[in-house]
Amino acid sequence: MKIQIINGPNLNLLGKREPGIYGNQGFETFFEVLKDKYPNIEFHYFQSNVEGEIINQLHQVGFSFDGVVLNAGAYTHTSVAIADAIAGIKTPVIEVHISNVYAREEFRHHSMLAKNCKGIITGFGLQSYELAVINFCTQP
Ligand code: DQA
Repeated sequence: MKIQIINGPNLNLLGKREPGIYGNQGFETFFEVLKDKYPNIEFHYFQSNVEGEIINQLHQVGFSFDGVVLNAGAYTHTSVAIADAIAGIKTPVIEVHISNVYAREEFRHHSMLAKNCKGIITGFGLQSYELAVINFCTQP
């Protein structure tokens, strides 16, 4: 099974960025633990702060991978282009968020992407990514 994890803008700063909201752990450390825990899954990781690069990556994997775990950061709330990219590919996408976006500012309550995704997981810290992986493993 091949799973692509995509992190959008500012998620390269995990561990340093607003730790009260996003925690103290960098993504790379978490990713190593995830790979060890699921040795049969071929994980690919991509992070970009650039909207078009996220779209290019969705196109790249969107016809051959088994799942995409996408945290599009703030683009979740604004990007018609990423929503269209998700609609245009075959690989199912699960939208994830570290924080509980519904417990935060109102502008974070709306996702442009959600209707084109298999589902949404929000508010479980970095475990949100793992819950998405478990879904792809158990309900491909
Ligand atoms: C986030 C929530 C978004 O609203 C925010 O813009 C982010 C991170 C999360 O993982 O909680 O950058 O996607």
